[in-house]
Amino acid sequence: MTLRVFIPCDAGAVAVGADAIARAMAEAARHRKIDVAIVRTGSRGLYWLEPMVEVATPAGRIAYGPVRVSDVASLLDAALGDGAHPLRQGIADDIPWLKRQTRLTFARCGVIDPRSLEDYRAHGGCQGIARAILLGVPATIEEVVQSGLRGRGGAGFPTGIKWGTVAQTAAPQKYIVCNADEGDSGTFADRMIMEGDPFVLIEGMAIAGFAVGATKGYVYIRSEYPHAIATMQAACAAARRGGLLGRNIAGSAHDFDIEVRAGAGAYVCGEETSLLESLEGRRGIVRAKPPLPAHQGLFGRPTVINNVLSFASVPVILERGAAAYRDFGMGKSRGTMPIQLAGNVKYGGLFETAFGVTLGELVDEVGGGTATGRPVRAVQVGGPLGAYFPRALFDTPFDYEAFAARDGLIGHGGIVVFDDRVDMAKQARFAMEFCAIESCGKCTPCRIGSTRGVETVDRIIRGEDRAANLAVLEDLCHTMKFGSLCALGGFTPYPVMSALTHFPQDFRADPKRLEAAE
Ligand SMILES: Cc1cc2nc3c(=O)[nH]c(=O)nc-3n(C[C@H](O)[C@H](O)[C@H](O)COP(=O)(O)O)c2cc1C
Ligand code: SF4
Repeated sequence: MTLRVFIPCDAGAVAVGADAIARAMAEAARHRKIDVAIVRTGSRGLYWLEPMVEVATPAGRIAYGPVRVSDVASLLDAALGDGAHPLRQGIADDIPWLKRQTRLTFARCGVIDPRSLEDYRAHGGCQGIARAILLGVPATIEEVVQSGLRGRGGAGFPTGIKWGTVAQTAAPQKYIVCNADEGDSGTFADRMIMEGDPFVLIEGMAIAGFAVGATKGYVYIRSEYPHAIATMQAACAAARRGGLLGRNIAGSAHDFDIEVRAGAGAYVCGEETSLLESLEGRRGIVRAKPPLPAHQGLFGRPTVINNVLSFASVPVILERGAAAYRDFGMGKSRGTMPIQLAGNVKYGGLFETAFGVTLGELVDEVGGGTATGRPVRAVQVGGPLGAYFPRALFDTPFDYEAFAARDGLIGHGGIVVFDDRVDMAKQARFAMEFCAIESCGKCTPCRIGSTRGVETVDRIIRGEDRAANLAVLEDLCHTMKFGSLCALGGFTPYPVMSALTHFPQDFRADPKRLEAAE
């Protein structure tokens, strides 16, 4: 009998030794003359347990983690025996951290072989596109509208409305562009999908192509994601062989293919118009809007540009129907959000759940507080342009409007946790410095304002003309917020002002910090 062992090939698991575990497992099986089939999967997203190895049993897949090479022999003994092992976590699907989630977009991530279209189909894949073809074009777009899906890249714009605009714009050529630049600090959900369930993204893009009449798609993946690039390329080739891409996709009369492109290595290339410039072979500089990409996007043609998670959420919406998806969530935030817990957190990883869970539940209960065991002082939600929230705001529900009402943003769903040793003045300075480094330079408030911002925060920290410089900083933030062309300059004030508002004591001249700086 063949023993089936599942070992992640996700970059996060590989970084802590998953490839070595796979090699050691193969070697141990050869040595003992046991028939072991090693399946490389994506990650389930419980990163503190990586490399997490799963063994198929009649009762389900038993998880063990975190596994080291030195554990492989005893793990094999356990797998061949009664399964008892110090690293045993029980049936993977029953691990409380996983069981508590509502996995719609990530249902197959960590479960299937990301390079096997057959495995994808065996786990319910391709049913979304099949239903889309049955429904036809207008009804497919209507399903996406009715689901309430909003863009998961940051701005939260309704996906169905965007698709409808492109569908209604007549042109000889239209494009589907997937934004996989994933530059936000503490985020990794796009990478996990591309490495763990790339076909769900391909299927989502194919549905978009079918719905708006686009025959060509691009996935723009940040160059720092070589594993994701390789897996996406392999998956696209498999999808072409299996009829999900190419001529007459999924048995329809529609043609659609995808090209994978490596990003240019700048945060601003994640901004949609800058990304289009970069895709066209130019430097990533933001374009003024209008025209919207939906009217004149890639090569001047109508273009749907969506985040990885937006596309990857579409197959389940089509498969189960808009109402089933919309039933999850709160207010205008419908469905589920793949939340990424990172930074100084005990249980970091991917937690997909319906909108409405509070920040405190996520950080304290799901995340288990800090990895250092010290008190949580602040969390930054929504990437480098997101606000810092103190514990006093931990009752905020994960919802676009609730965060906006407290001058914050959900962005791409990243939460970075800091303990009580964080210096919030330094974090404010960092936000300005980040903007200065990453600014595309097209508009003055961002290009010049960010550099002046760094200097002003420095003066405040040094205690120079404190009141006057605080007023300058506030004025500068106001100018950047309302005068910048895109959200890089426009949102940098959020981390700065939230640090000032919630942690004013950190902006007083601190002799210890001044000493350290000298
Ligand atoms: C500076 C900057 C960086 C951005 N980076 C990303 C990114 O890495 N990935 C992403 O999907 N959206 C990013 N966005 C948002 C995109 O401009 C755009 O809103 C998104 O691709 C639209 O897709 P969605 O509606 O599916 O979210 C960024 C925006 C700005 C201003
Ligand atoms: S805000 Fe910054 S990144 Fe955006 S267009 Fe202006 S200079 Fe470029």
